[in-house]
Amino acid sequence: MSQGPMGVVGALKRGLGVVTNSGSKAARMEHFHQPEREESPVDQLRELQAREAALAALGSRRQHALRIADLGTGSGALLLALLSECPRALGIGTDLSQEAIACARRNACALQLRERAFFTVCNYGAALKGSFDLVVSNPPYVRRSDIATLQPEVRLFDPARALDGGDDGLHGYRAITTDAGRLLAPGGLIVVELGAGQANTVATLFSAAGLAVESPCPDLSGMPRALLARLMTRLLARLRS
Ligand SMILES: C[S@@+](CC[C@H](N)C(=O)[O-])C[C@H]1O[C@@H](n2cnc3c(N)ncnc32)[C@H](O)[C@@H]1O
Repeated sequence: MSQGPMGVVGALKRGLGVVTNSGSKAARMEHFHQPEREESPVDQLRELQAREAALAALGSRRQHALRIADLGTGSGALLLALLSECPRALGIGTDLSQEAIACARRNACALQLRERAFFTVCNYGAALKGSFDLVVSNPPYVRRSDIATLQPEVRLFDPARALDGGDDGLHGYRAITTDAGRLLAPGGLIVVELGAGQANTVATLFSAAGLAVESPCPDLSGMPRALLARLMTRLLARLRS
């Protein structure tokens, strides 16, 4: 990106109607809060998976003035973890839940990332404009009919909105795929967390939207847990078609 950090702040403010706060750049993830709950070890593993997949794909670009969007940000865990690893990046997290957004803002303040982290209440990427270098998401992905069968520590732990992926568990992925084509810069990266058995279907959704899909990243048990894709440039897309 050619813009310096303040230029990007200005662009985000103009495009998204957000305001900046001041704060130091140091990040300490141990001071992290969840809305109404403590984070489970399973959540920590999943967040680690998406974060690691995104950081590995960024490589040395993590030092650039990246623009990052986190769709369905919840407590802001994924966005704030990425901002703590990408010292010049700016990010915006969205969520339908006002409570989650308030929590994410508190976490950004506690982590001294408020200067680079913005949050807004909206439907996935609906309120966002401009092109992002990285779009991440851990959407709700449980089939609605499966929610009642989840273990109580999951079912009672998370709000329904954080779990309910619609009739086939893919509602969030469809919305995010639609947004990604509009939001990603050419060559930009999207990384999503996956539910069990969803890798192939989500890869098909991404491909149909013109995204170049990479191999899914497994978690420690070998299950595909994160999927990464890039928005191809027009030239590359023509060569491949
Ligand atoms: C599985 S949780 C993930 C939260 C966080 N990204 C994380 O990894 O811990 C899914 C989040 O998506 C939010 N969500 C559900 N539907 C949404 C929608 N239509 N637009 C934006 N956010 C939504 C929920 O409120 C919840 O915070």
